[in-house]
Amino acid sequence: MPREIITLQAGQCGNQIGMEFWKQLCLEHGISKDGVLEEWATEGGDRKDVFFYQADDDHYIPRSIMIDLEPRVINNILQSDYANLYNQENIFISKDGGGAGNNWVSGHEQGKRIHEDLLEMMDREADNSDSLEGFMLLHSIAGGTGSGLGSWILENLSDRYPKKIVQTYSVFPNNDGDSSDVVVQPYNSVLTLKRLTTDADSVVVLDNTALNQILADRLHIQNPTFAQTNQLVSTVMSASTSTLRYPGYMNNDLISMLASLIPTPRCHYLMTAYTPFSGDHVDQAKSVRKTTVLDVMRRLLQPKNRMVSVNPTKKSCYISILNIIQGEADPTDVHKSLLRIRERRLAQFIPWGPASIQVALSRKSPYVTTPHRVSGLMLANHTSIAGLFKRTCDQFDRLLKRNAFVERYKKESELSDKDFLEEMTESRSVVQELINEYEASESPDYVTWSTPGLSEPSAARAGER
Ligand code: GTP
Repeated sequence: MPREIITLQAGQCGNQIGMEFWKQLCLEHGISKDGVLEEWATEGGDRKDVFFYQADDDHYIPRSIMIDLEPRVINNILQSDYANLYNQENIFISKDGGGAGNNWVSGHEQGKRIHEDLLEMMDREADNSDSLEGFMLLHSIAGGTGSGLGSWILENLSDRYPKKIVQTYSVFPNNDGDSSDVVVQPYNSVLTLKRLTTDADSVVVLDNTALNQILADRLHIQNPTFAQTNQLVSTVMSASTSTLRYPGYMNNDLISMLASLIPTPRCHYLMTAYTPFSGDHVDQAKSVRKTTVLDVMRRLLQPKNRMVSVNPTKKSCYISILNIIQGEADPTDVHKSLLRIRERRLAQFIPWGPASIQVALSRKSPYVTTPHRVSGLMLANHTSIAGLFKRTCDQFDRLLKRNAFVERYKKESELSDKDFLEEMTESRSVVQELINEYEASESPDYVTWSTPGLSEPSAARAGER
């Protein structure tokens, strides 16, 4: 029985990373740009039906819904070679066409106005699945559509499909130095982080600052295009879904993957690392080196390979790690590598849970050749992620103290001025509680730590989901 996943793409960033994801999936499963299974794609054993379904003529259609409040990005997709891949009924472009102007409130309010169309698409796709496992939202948290409309989607998913898993791939803005690429991004980010914390089961953090840094430091590209950044993103997305698409003994569905990574419900933000990169858009990624399981697992633990721009503190530690290793990996090599990592104390874990690195050996697509024998993705729950939220909150506080741009938001909101400001303060405090919880989880007392307003200790709520 397939455990289907529906992908929702919102805004410029969501649709651009979505397009790269589907391109990669087509390549890996031997599906042509029109959705037809290639004649040579005979090796089987993969599960295409998690992400695709078949039309009456057997061609494959992504279980995806593309939403934007301005037409440019989706029109580009519809003019590309992949135009016929998608179900045209699952495309929503707002008739206004003006986007959300980098304003979370505008995106959220427009979500309310078009809710019938959006819910119709979501329900139709859900009813089209035999055993729906959940939803994946692709978006950025800094603009207006991916953040505001994305927040509206998250609220509605948790309300309408409370038993389904909601995972997001959330792009955090470039924050090089003190300048961010969208001035009001701290408002949009904090308002979105509230929904990501309360309405999603797991958030894979894709941090543009770190992605740009990796491209600059490791691959010598100083001003990367989105096509180059998105090549890293699609590599991460394809590797992190590989155990679902190429089932083995473990981690064959999202729930089993997330269960080991997220011991307490709210600390569900995952950082990633990947090595070695290879790709068409990035020249330096074409150079080949020797890889072994130990080498890959060691590199995955190096802070410079993490795709999140935070500096670990002395106390920060891993809550959990899942390494997805692809290629020629022998279980004995994995075992030896784990022993070596433990001997060398390469990973510092929380003091209140098992200190273990989970490893999933995943099959690779037989149709895509990569020059390296072994490659790996790390999905990690690490307490230093709180640094990213702190930085956003500091910027939010500075803007709000000056009342900067607040009128723009109030003007778009249906809420009274007072209620709108309450919404801002409430979102800020949800993010603060999240930061506090990550910090508390660094201490052995965490098992008895409880969130204000919730009576049970966080660790005791572990089985909630
Ligand atoms: P509006 O433009 O306000 O309607 O909202 P939107 O959600 O469409 O905005 P967008 O997705 O452009 O969000 C802006 C943020 O996303 C900025 O931080 C950009 O750097 C980032 N971004 C936009 N497109 C891409 C992309 O293709 N890849 C990556 N990695 N980041 C992107």
